[in-house]
Amino acid sequence: MKITTREELIKAYIDFFKSKKHKEIHSSSLIPENDPTVLFTTAGMHPLVPYLFGQKHPLGKRLVDVQKCIRTDDIDDVGDEVHHTFFEMLGNWSFGDYFKKEAIEFSFEFLTSALKLDKDKLAVSCFIGDSDASRDDESSKIWLDLGIAKERIAFLGKKDNWWGPAGETGPCGPDTEMFYYTGKGKTPKKFDASDSNWVEIWNDVFMEYNKTKNGKYEMLKQKNVDTGMGVERTLAVLNQLDDNYQTSIFIPIINSIEKLSGKKYYGNDKIAIRIIADHLRAAVFILGDERGIKPSNIGQGYVLRRLIRRAIRYGKILGINSSFIVHIAKVILPIYHDYQELERNHRFIYSNLEEEEKRFMETLEKGLKKFNEICTDKIITGKEAFLLFQSYGFPIEMTEELASEKGVKVDLEEYNEEFERHQDLSRTASSGVFKSGLADDSDVVRKLHTATHLLNEALRRILNSDIKQ
Ligand code: ALA
Repeated sequence: MKITTREELIKAYIDFFKSKKHKEIHSSSLIPENDPTVLFTTAGMHPLVPYLFGQKHPLGKRLVDVQKCIRTDDIDDVGDEVHHTFFEMLGNWSFGDYFKKEAIEFSFEFLTSALKLDKDKLAVSCFIGDSDASRDDESSKIWLDLGIAKERIAFLGKKDNWWGPAGETGPCGPDTEMFYYTGKGKTPKKFDASDSNWVEIWNDVFMEYNKTKNGKYEMLKQKNVDTGMGVERTLAVLNQLDDNYQTSIFIPIINSIEKLSGKKYYGNDKIAIRIIADHLRAAVFILGDERGIKPSNIGQGYVLRRLIRRAIRYGKILGINSSFIVHIAKVILPIYHDYQELERNHRFIYSNLEEEEKRFMETLEKGLKKFNEICTDKIITGKEAFLLFQSYGFPIEMTEELASEKGVKVDLEEYNEEFERHQDLSRTASSGVFKSGLADDSDVVRKLHTATHLLNEALRRILNSDIKQ
């Protein structure tokens, strides 16, 4: 059967790993429970960190899932064919059970037998080794035994073939990444990681290290496997598309943006259309998460505000002059009918989008006028940027983006001083607590974090929803 939808790909993956004795778990929240240093879940392993450290999972040592993820680091790259802020990650885990041999054999079998990808278009990379960990000849030997040619195996350094920790500390290890050749012509004999025709589709991480606060790599109690396969990108590869936004996931969203704007998904307009599609999809998922995050000026709420307002600005660039974001959200929800929380929270999603759009539309026009008045010099002062933020609701990143389109800089330092002076809130919004990881890697601290979250949640449920730490 040819796989054309996200549901088909997810089912194929979950079924395959169930047949290899994995238990399926549900996607966790987009907001990490145990990690105060990050705003969002950035990978499938994130909610599973305690089990990588050795805690027993009630369902055993082998798990499989599809996890909703948000990576805000990539927000400025959105607009091209492959970047997203929100995406779904397929993953399978071994907590001290199987290691390199089975993990790689499972990956190879899934790619070639279940997905029916051509073995002759596959290439892989392995860790080259350094003073922290040795060269991963074990993985390359397994690939060779499976019939991957020597020239299709590259050895690369930490930057490419090491994954984690998600933040500053925690589980990590060397990885082996799988690439598929998507070029039109003949597949080159030799794998070249810098040739973008080789698209990375999967990553098997061998998590046997724990990076500590002082930068040391200690052995974990057990050897784990953590893998990640992006749904959007793999679906594109399976359908010979070089644009993730042309997969069946995005087609209905793009169609509705075309209809609302009267523009076609073509030429330069593609960029604005992709940004709107991406940002509103992410906004729907943040609002639809059980934590009830609303647009605000701090933390996750600020990211949400930034995404929504950037989408609205690009809507304006496309010539959409009426309110439109709820229309698009109504197209996004049915695509993700399998996330029941979206349906449960649909009223919350729509009403918050509507309100935020209304609020921003009241000031956007005037704000753009003000911006043009200010933007005559080579630099926008921090005070001016703060005025745009406070009086016109322009997230600082939006001011920076508008300024850079005119070759103008923004004095961020002064903006931050101004921001702090006016609000006694943290710097979260602009300095970006976007990286992930546990702030402190000791077991005790981790347990206390969990206990505090549980206690707060219980108090919120029993007493009132405004209780904070
Ligand atoms: N955690 C690994 C990744 O995100 C699998 O690529």
